[in-house]
Amino acid sequence: MDNPDQLRDDILKDVDAAESVDALEEIRVAVLGKKGRITDMMKGLGQMAPDERKAAGQALNALKDEIADALESKKTTLADADLDRRLMTEKIDVTLPPAPEPQGSIHPISQTIDEITAIFGEMGFTVAEGPDIEDDWHNFTALNIPADHPARQEHDTFYLPGEHGERKVLRTHTSPVQIRTMTAEKPPIRIIIPGRTYRSDYDATHSPMFHQVEGLVIDKTSHMGHLKGCLIEFCSAFFEVDDLPVRFRPSYFPFTEPSAEVDIGCTRDGGEFRIGHGDDWLEILGSGMVNPNVLANCGIDPTEYQGFAFGIGIERLAMLKYGIPDLRTFYDSDLRWLRHYGFRSLEVPGMVGGLVR
Ligand code: PHE
Repeated sequence: MDNPDQLRDDILKDVDAAESVDALEEIRVAVLGKKGRITDMMKGLGQMAPDERKAAGQALNALKDEIADALESKKTTLADADLDRRLMTEKIDVTLPPAPEPQGSIHPISQTIDEITAIFGEMGFTVAEGPDIEDDWHNFTALNIPADHPARQEHDTFYLPGEHGERKVLRTHTSPVQIRTMTAEKPPIRIIIPGRTYRSDYDATHSPMFHQVEGLVIDKTSHMGHLKGCLIEFCSAFFEVDDLPVRFRPSYFPFTEPSAEVDIGCTRDGGEFRIGHGDDWLEILGSGMVNPNVLANCGIDPTEYQGFAFGIGIERLAMLKYGIPDLRTFYDSDLRWLRHYGFRSLEVPGMVGGLVR
């Protein structure tokens, strides 16, 4: 048998030197575990003469207890040290004032763009973007808008000088991004294009800077029926009205043929305005089948490909949905207005709120 005093000193020294709870556990198993040194010595008691056995047994039991106590107290010490270390590194300054409640809100235009994007996203559209400063070709010519078209007159369009003497325009609609996409990508194309647009106009329903969202679908088979289905679904999802009456009224755009303006049903009874049912109509967007000339201008074969496009005024949709009477207030940066019409940051829309089936 080992010298018990030596053994005791060795083990206690090991316990004292242990640097982690794991190291302590290793010592415990090596000493007091099933095959541990003290456990072995206890087993050896059986071979001793009875008078020796008694004294040795008592000594061993005392040693066992002493070691168990030492392990326990070292374990507490290590845990305390660990807690101290964490308290030092993770300390919180309780004297700091609390973080202020977030004051910001989402502007109704951004909210409306998010809602529109969520609905078209669900239908498989992706988002495309283009520059606000355009050239004549993208904004007009490629879109089959002839040189004498009224939209080109100074009256509507902001012109600016380009770097090389050519004329630039602030895009008057988001349609030039149709051209940019069709010249850069091969069909199938299914995009929406939200963005700023500019026209020299200013009253309660017009602002020189406003927003549109364009839609473009080009493939081999999409037809007027798809255009209608897509826009009816969008209108009823956006306005959250089941069976929203939607009317397609023949119209003219140089870049679509045939073209249709889309109206939704509303009531204007005795000053009360409501979207949904009633016998009145309100125009909300322009649409049509992409004119074959436009496809050809972009290098897409119109005998092989076809599709539809639409353009929606975002302010108009936001005004209708959220009951905002004057378009100019969108850009006044009046905090009282934003507090009234703005959205809390947690009110970001999802499809769950947007789509009504
Ligand atoms: N670009 C047209 C406008 O600004 C809207 C539109 C887009 C119409 C696409 C038809 C197709 O009025």
